[in-house]
Amino acid sequence: MTSIEILVATTSGNTEYLADQLADQLQQQGYTARVHYEPDYTDLVETITDETLWIGCIASHGAGDYADSMLAFADDLHAKKPRLEPLQYAVIAVGDSCYDTYCAAGRDFDEKLANAGAKRVIERLEIDMSQDDPEEKASTWLGSLLAHL
Ligand SMILES: Cc1cc2nc3c(=O)[nH]c(=O)nc-3n(C[C@H](O)[C@H](O)[C@H](O)COP(=O)(O)O)c2cc1C
Repeated sequence: MTSIEILVATTSGNTEYLADQLADQLQQQGYTARVHYEPDYTDLVETITDETLWIGCIASHGAGDYADSMLAFADDLHAKKPRLEPLQYAVIAVGDSCYDTYCAAGRDFDEKLANAGAKRVIERLEIDMSQDDPEEKASTWLGSLLAHL
């Protein structure tokens, strides 16, 4: 049974809300998902097995930085450069297209995990908070993700 860990990068709460919605949807489908509101690098990296799926819900802030709740995790990911081979993952990048650094943190997270040898299950979803209906987009995307498991 896949163990689903939802990693949340949020500053003002929009992405946390989205992550909770994903967790509810997963629960309705019979999956168990843990939402990590301040993801702990050591805890998450050391417990990876070939049954682990990470869903990164990553908002960009600053000039394309990770939102506050994942700054420490992102620092460790960049500095320690772990190998993550058995891991499967998928990313929702949250941002606003009025910024030049649109969705930069989510794009970085996707790239870093791929470079670390983790397996991308489906293509990254990018949510533009100034254009999209986040809940509807995320819900449709999650359906596609589950079809790939
Ligand atoms: C100060 C500030 C900086 C932001 N910088 C970026 C950015 O560089 N790139 C981007 O795509 N969105 C950026 N955004 C938009 C946020 O990603 C967007 O508002 C998102 O919904 C915030 O999610 P959160 O509520 O989970 O923190 C920024 C928003 C604020 C308020």
